[in-house]
Amino acid sequence: MIELELADKTHDEARQGEALIIDAPQRGNARKLYIESYGCQMNFADSEIVASILGDNGFETTGDYKEADLVFINTCSIRENAEQRVRNRLSQFGVEKRRNPKLIVGVLGCMAERLKSKFLDEEKLVDMVVGPDAYRDLPQLISQVEDGQKAINVLLSREETYADISPVRLNGNGITAFISIMRGCDNMCSFCVVPFTRGRERSRDPQSIVAEAQDLFDRGYKEVTLLGQNVDSYKWKGADDSEAAGIQVNFAQLLEMVALISPDLRIRFSTSHPKDITDEVLYTIAKYDNICNYIHLPVQSGNSRVLELMNRTYTREWYMNRVDAIRSIIPDCAISTDIIAGFCTETEAEHEETLSMMDYVGYDFAFTFSYSERPGTLAARKLVDDIPEEVKKRRLAEILVKAQQTSLYRLQQNVGKTLRILVEGTSKKSKTDYCGRNDQNAMVVFPATEEIKPGQYLNVLVERCTSATLLGRIVD
Ligand code: 5AD
Ligand code: SF4
Repeated sequence: MIELELADKTHDEARQGEALIIDAPQRGNARKLYIESYGCQMNFADSEIVASILGDNGFETTGDYKEADLVFINTCSIRENAEQRVRNRLSQFGVEKRRNPKLIVGVLGCMAERLKSKFLDEEKLVDMVVGPDAYRDLPQLISQVEDGQKAINVLLSREETYADISPVRLNGNGITAFISIMRGCDNMCSFCVVPFTRGRERSRDPQSIVAEAQDLFDRGYKEVTLLGQNVDSYKWKGADDSEAAGIQVNFAQLLEMVALISPDLRIRFSTSHPKDITDEVLYTIAKYDNICNYIHLPVQSGNSRVLELMNRTYTREWYMNRVDAIRSIIPDCAISTDIIAGFCTETEAEHEETLSMMDYVGYDFAFTFSYSERPGTLAARKLVDDIPEEVKKRRLAEILVKAQQTSLYRLQQNVGKTLRILVEGTSKKSKTDYCGRNDQNAMVVFPATEEIKPGQYLNVLVERCTSATLLGRIVD
């Protein structure tokens, strides 16, 4: 067994969708790869890189793990329950492995990086453990397993951006896609395990990002989401010995470069950090119609003392000031957030300040979490996780109620308005309806007609709304 140890410990993360993806089946005689992803959008994007690397090495993807030669699970460590879900899923793969002993089971992503060789000791059915910066090594690691050994590579890198790899779009709708613009994160939020699982922040070169977006557009895609743990700190510098020597590109400039591909290509991005989002970025969003008026701006807490304990490096006032800037520069911008309930030592009054922040901003959407202590984080080492579980639960429930109220209020403001929608496909709930999003990321459902195709922009008159969806009909 070869174990490559961690080179440089640091961190990162992204948005948490907690969803599951299974790729679209393809045909042929090649060996079959089944890959399932958990956690943030970045993990889903990484699985597309993995599928590309293995595609070049004779694997094709399958949507059925029972016919796979290789099963990968791309994991998330952000909260304890995310890890629990992965372990439950692994035990299901264990049943399959007992039936088919040749099946190779690999654990990728953040849990692989966090647990390293411990994973191989704890979960006997796992053959491979591969961290997020080691995917180029997968073909070699697979051969090692085929030779009867266990394989592990959890080396983190200061350079790897997979810039030259064209992701294989998995389970997509052919209309919207993610593009990774950077990896890692140099912030050290005290609650966050990601600093230890994804390495130092590094930005991908802008030419390869623009080329990937252009290629997607040429293939009929109409929306790209630029992904990074903290997109506002995107910074690329041409190497001194290259033609690009002296050239620097920041996030606002990158946004503009991608926006210029075509007015018909929508640009989204995630995640913004309140300490780093600049007016230059806001003015760039305002300047281009195709850069969506939607910002995901995690607040985490509305209280300055708690924010300091979280090491977020901004205060309540600073955050409010950034929201004011968004409202004045991009008046119709939607704002969403992440909130943690019951962080170490949080008092009732401090929790109330989170609720009042929610009133102040009127979030279009909030992702809400109960604090979950993660081993090795700054908070686990320096603070006491002293808020009782039932108090965390009650605070979370109060935050959730407020989040539902504010997002319903925001949705209701659209009733009676005509919105420009990018059609994504048929609605999940009804085959006779189509769904799509507007610029502000609201989901709109409307009756399908023969002429409409996914990828089209349409005007939809909103007639009513449910708690999460707008309902309407097409107008000219
Ligand atoms: N406990 C609860 N929520 C967490 N998040 C990150 N770490 C933790 C944790 N230990 C949340 C943050 C972050 C989002 C992706 O997940 O709100 O923005
Ligand atoms: Fe984690 Fe903070 Fe970095 Fe986000 S910005 S990945 S929460 S350390």
